[in-house]
Amino acid sequence: MKRKILCAVGTRPEAIKMAPVIRALAREPWAEVRVLATAQHRHMLDQVLKIFNIEPNIDLDIMRPNQALTTLTARLLLDLDDALQAEKPEAVLVQGDTTTVMSVALTCFYHRIPIGHVEAGLRTGDMANPFPEEMNRVVAGRLAQWHFCPTTSSSENLRREGIPENAIYVTGNTVIDALLDVSARCDSAMPAVGEGRRLILVTSHRRENFGEAMKQTFCAVRDIANSNPDVEILYPVHPNPNVHTLAHQILGGHPRITLCEPLDYLPFVAAMKKAYLILTDSGGVQEEAPALGKPVLVMRRETERPEAVVQGVVKLVGADYEAIVSNTQRLLDDSAAYAAMARGVSPYGDGRAAERIVNVLRERYAG
Ligand code: UD1
Ligand code: UDP
Repeated sequence: MKRKILCAVGTRPEAIKMAPVIRALAREPWAEVRVLATAQHRHMLDQVLKIFNIEPNIDLDIMRPNQALTTLTARLLLDLDDALQAEKPEAVLVQGDTTTVMSVALTCFYHRIPIGHVEAGLRTGDMANPFPEEMNRVVAGRLAQWHFCPTTSSSENLRREGIPENAIYVTGNTVIDALLDVSARCDSAMPAVGEGRRLILVTSHRRENFGEAMKQTFCAVRDIANSNPDVEILYPVHPNPNVHTLAHQILGGHPRITLCEPLDYLPFVAAMKKAYLILTDSGGVQEEAPALGKPVLVMRRETERPEAVVQGVVKLVGADYEAIVSNTQRLLDDSAAYAAMARGVSPYGDGRAAERIVNVLRERYAG
């Protein structure tokens, strides 16, 4: 009899990072793979599912415009309760640190369904940064039976929290599996950049930066474009209204700044490959860009991904106008500083994380 494994996804990054696991599980004769989309994100989730040819078996269609955390959580818990009751999976896999992850983990706990946490053990130690993700992953980490950690240092975070050794697996991050797949077939989707110009790719969406901090980051981006005529900026704007409105107010209409809708994963990876450097507050981009040899300045105060910072290929600059402008200018002007950050290292994985995760589940469920 096949064992029913349910993979839950809610947002864009969860789908990108769960896709390799869903595909690997689908090849296992002992597994019946089911996909539950909460659709905490609608359009951005559908973009990813399409690229990876994944059709959810259950779709909760949760997203509402400008959703608040409390109502999002409440609606998720109610709908997940019904879905898990009907589905009765043997085990559930969740990925990352979103409200979907925390809600699925809690609902599984109430239903006594074991969960595997993909991308386990990331911590800043500060519940306010990132908000609310640090709390989400602490909850998922407390409730999971299997912890699939991307790195040794994330596994050490879990040991410090008393997670038993036999529940911790260092697998690498599945984002590198997805990246290598897409990177090999994305070059025709590269953005056009003017002759002799350098591309800076920007993304931004963290809740703790909403308001004044995000304003500073956008003013910095605008002034970098103003003082560097050879720079073009590409910014696929996150649809969260708190981001979208401000981005268009401060950056709209500039001749060398392109604001666009969120890019499909394929053209986004192509844009990362084309970029000279990347300014971001994204988690996933911090993992992908080093593997592509692109320097990243992280517009956040803290990161739960210290490995690339330690290697010197990612730098934390905060959501701080002066630090963003001065560090970017240095990378534009100083070729030695640039070369030191553009070394192409991949501390987050080798492209075989999904295989390792499936090996653990096979051991438990096959035969
Ligand atoms: C969420 C996650 C965050 C993750 C990010 C990835 C939480 C609390 N936050 O943040 O951890 O890093 O996704 O992008 O889980 N929207 C659309 N279309 C979409 C997606 C979003 O219009 O396809 C708009 C809607 O107005 C929605 C709003 O963005 O209400 C916020 O979405 P939400 O998932 O609550 O938060 P994010 O900021 O996207
Ligand atoms: N990404 C994408 N299109 C975009 C911007 C980002 O496909 O326009 C991808 C990116 O390569 C990474 C993921 O989305 O894999 C990161 O998502 P996001 O920054 O929204 O979330 P986070 O990783 O911060 O949770």
